[in-house]
Amino acid sequence: MAISEEFLNEIRLRIDIDELIGQYVDLKKHGRLSKALCPFHSEKTPSFTVYSDTQSYYCFGCQKGGDAITFIREIENLDYIEAVRMLCEKAGLNMPEDNYDDTINKKRRRMLEINKEAARFFHNYMLSPKGKKGLDYFLSRGLSMNTIRRFGLGYAPDDWSELIKYMTSKGYSKSELHEADLAKKSTKNDRINYFDNFRDRAIVPIIDLRGNIIAFGGRVLDGSGPKYVNTSDTLVYKKSQAVFALNFAKNGNVGKLILAEGYMDVISLHQAGFTNAVAGLGTALTDEQVRLISRYCEEIILAYDSDEAGKKAVNKAIYKFERTGVKIRVLELKDGKDPDEIIKKYGPERFKALVDGAANDIEYKLLEKRALYDLATSDGKMNFLNDATFILAKLNSPIEREIYASRLASELDVSKEAILTQAQKNKDRKEKRENKVDFGKLKDEIAPKKDEVNPQRPDNIKAAKAEETLISSIIANPDFLKKLENKISSQDFVTDFNRRVYEKISQRILDGLPIDNLFLSAYFTPEEMGRIVKLSNNSQKISNTITECDDCIKVLKQEKNRVKNIDPKSLSDDEFLKLFNKNT
Ligand code: CTP
Ligand code: MN
Repeated sequence: MAISEEFLNEIRLRIDIDELIGQYVDLKKHGRLSKALCPFHSEKTPSFTVYSDTQSYYCFGCQKGGDAITFIREIENLDYIEAVRMLCEKAGLNMPEDNYDDTINKKRRRMLEINKEAARFFHNYMLSPKGKKGLDYFLSRGLSMNTIRRFGLGYAPDDWSELIKYMTSKGYSKSELHEADLAKKSTKNDRINYFDNFRDRAIVPIIDLRGNIIAFGGRVLDGSGPKYVNTSDTLVYKKSQAVFALNFAKNGNVGKLILAEGYMDVISLHQAGFTNAVAGLGTALTDEQVRLISRYCEEIILAYDSDEAGKKAVNKAIYKFERTGVKIRVLELKDGKDPDEIIKKYGPERFKALVDGAANDIEYKLLEKRALYDLATSDGKMNFLNDATFILAKLNSPIEREIYASRLASELDVSKEAILTQAQKNKDRKEKRENKVDFGKLKDEIAPKKDEVNPQRPDNIKAAKAEETLISSIIANPDFLKKLENKISSQDFVTDFNRRVYEKISQRILDGLPIDNLFLSAYFTPEEMGRIVKLSNNSQKISNTITECDDCIKVLKQEKNRVKNIDPKSLSDDEFLKLFNKNT
């Protein structure tokens, strides 16, 4: 962390947080605030708020918040320096050179170099006589040389140390290869032994949006063993945040992405002209991947395998994408197990026809239910209709409900009104259920649950609140500090996190420095910034008087030596309600 105050000030003057965040989400002005659907968690009504006054943002749903730098850190998954660099690019500022290199970044850049060199090795080895086995594998899967080159495919030697030998000859150390997960390590008689992680496998490099090779997938050539060996998470790779082939697919301008399950499906789709195909990386689709994908399309076409696992995955994916607002369509692969097979068996035209005719999410859910019943019988018809009304009940738009009810009505020869009435009943029932006070859940919420930012807070709630009011007051009225200085010191704080915030803020005020969030974010993590922004936007909720601060100080001094620890789960509902009312 070596960005100078002067330079941060440049950034502060050049960057407008509304404009910055507006590049990522659809912000709607509400007076002095702007609101949007939160880019950091799934939601249907906007609780993500941008404050021009304090040049900050805060989400009331997921509690993420911060300044411009924190925002870039979180949304682009960058560390502090990288985020500052990106902001500079956006603002047309030249970042002072000597700020560039902090160790982690150097390491990261070096690891990317290592991956690039390794990819080159795997690729060239595949093209050499010894690697013919690998090349033949890809060719036998119907890939052209063009495709093989475009995806940088390769082959890892059937050997324990071929890659290590090559890479060390290029000046990379074994422990660096180990950190990049290209080498594994074993210890025998106190001797550490390194060996190649990828052996005798067809190699698929995983490339990020900036074109860096961040990881590898290695497929067995025959049917044996684990089908894939993949790079585990490293300094440059988080499996849960990467999307395979998005680097290629994002360049298409169709507004649609096809999401398949496997690397091989995606590669085959691209070769067949569907260059908007992407895939997750083996694990179940994560929220981060869904967020990333939905940033690059208006419509997602789910092209999962046709087996049971694929169907389950489709339902989970629908659930996640429904929250992002992108249009969802689901391919039904009737005559093949996966997109690759459809294209091989019937050609790209058939796949194109499937894409064009793909059902949207509601249609898909209805089809799925329909398949469970025999609609020729009146029992089957009734049961299906009952399920269908639950699906319609979830629709918020009455127009949509009307459309599907009409279709069902004419297909099944029942009255549309009956379907709509039943759907409305289901909807009412669901809402009633949701609105009922759930003591169990409330208790969970108020119970001393973990607070990652301020772990001492749940056990010292009264003191923490007094501390927070003090901090909010001082941020809103820096001149208060002078008046309070001799009544309180950071030693009086009960929780360490709030003490650190207080110390940083008071130190800056005493030094005559501004206490904008943008300056604070140099000292606090993104999670901590969320809390600080919450406090700095709290000034409307406090009276902003010295008297209130004095009261807080009194509370703090009383609480200082008292450790309170009440577990609401042990209370009766009545006792709990009393406590709850007191605390909120
Ligand atoms: N996968 C994995 N590890 C495994 C099996 C699967 O990481 N042991 C991940 C890979 O990302 C793979 C995806 O899950 O691409 C889908 O699996 P699968 O359909 O079995 O693999 P494909 O890549 O489609 O290969 P193939 O066409 O040969 O079936
Ligand atoms: Mn597959």
